[in-house]
Amino acid sequence: MKYIKDQENLNEKRVLLRLDLNVPIKNGMITDQTRIDKVLPIINFLIKKKSKILVVSHIGRPKGKINEDLSLKPICENLEKKINQKISLIKDNILGLKRDDLFNDSNQQIIFLENIRFYVEEEKNDTNFSKHLSKLADIFVNDAFSCSHRAHASISKITGFLPSYAGLQLETEVSALKKITTEIKKPTTCIIGGSKISTKIGIIKNLIPKFDNIIIVGGMANNILSFLGKPVGKSIKEDNCESIIDDIFKTAKNQSCKIVYPEDVVVGKNMEDNAEIKEVNEVKNDDYILDIGPKTISKIKDIIENSQTILWNGPAGYFENPNFALGSYEIAKKIVEKNKNDSIYSVAGGGDTIAVLNQINVINSFNFVSTAGGAFLEYLEGKELPGIKALN
Ligand code: 3PG
Repeated sequence: MKYIKDQENLNEKRVLLRLDLNVPIKNGMITDQTRIDKVLPIINFLIKKKSKILVVSHIGRPKGKINEDLSLKPICENLEKKINQKISLIKDNILGLKRDDLFNDSNQQIIFLENIRFYVEEEKNDTNFSKHLSKLADIFVNDAFSCSHRAHASISKITGFLPSYAGLQLETEVSALKKITTEIKKPTTCIIGGSKISTKIGIIKNLIPKFDNIIIVGGMANNILSFLGKPVGKSIKEDNCESIIDDIFKTAKNQSCKIVYPEDVVVGKNMEDNAEIKEVNEVKNDDYILDIGPKTISKIKDIIENSQTILWNGPAGYFENPNFALGSYEIAKKIVEKNKNDSIYSVAGGGDTIAVLNQINVINSFNFVSTAGGAFLEYLEGKELPGIKALN
């Protein structure tokens, strides 16, 4: 792998910079800026080298369609303030863009292309699309470790058409995760939550041999409860996961890994509702499960107490509403308490998990915090991520 930090002659070079600026946004407002803060080193590095920076990023999952709610505009504005420099956001169709259309003003150093997932070709890892993108720049830098598990055009195929380098944040994350996975101390516990069930449920089976406990909370726990015949009302869940879950339980039994899931839950009639604690058998047809209940919290705290290493990816509930944030907060606080007396090694990952940690101001109390969610889990699984493979 070649690293951008080792490159000398970047003066006036056009750098196609893939970032992951997929930050949480509510009512047009950025609710957590960590991923933006994490790109400042690479942006400042390239500014200093006098490169021309063409930023490519996605936000959300617009599935190849233009969706103004998923524009990169608020992110550009936020970054402009942070670096005190003008950024142009190009909203024109990328497919009609030519190299000569960009950086015509000699003062212009940073241009953003609009959300790359507005183009269906991105997720298809389309060759012609990648080739077209490559013509806009001289070199490619991937500083988006957190989406390097996606074989997409601006992450994977693009590397076939431009000299390609690992960015600063990507390098930091990969070396930290490499160290963590080789020096892991038992008993080990992995907490997996969040709402991206389809991204994560297939990964659990492969994590089982590496952990003593796997705690499943958040959206995925609804699939487990439903598999066990419990009612989950209107809660989010993924279809056709029965055989995956069956496999998870069988593999866990063979490998002596304990699978932990909610014993009680907190429900609401909608996302803005107040919290009501229920046993898992009591969930009604019109309930949404939005957090773990007190019995489950206490069980998870006991497991954390007896662990030496903890990896956490994905909140326990719909933490955006404070009524459903307690499960996530209590998990975070217990880990921090153990960290204070150095009796646990703690790693957290993913955009939403970071947002939870920032809400209660404990992000610096973890040993390592990765910007990556799905990529972090796939890395732990031992998979070579497509974005990393392409750089290699
Ligand atoms: C993330 O938030 O994990 C990355 O931005 C990837 O997003 P995705 O799961 O929509 O591909």
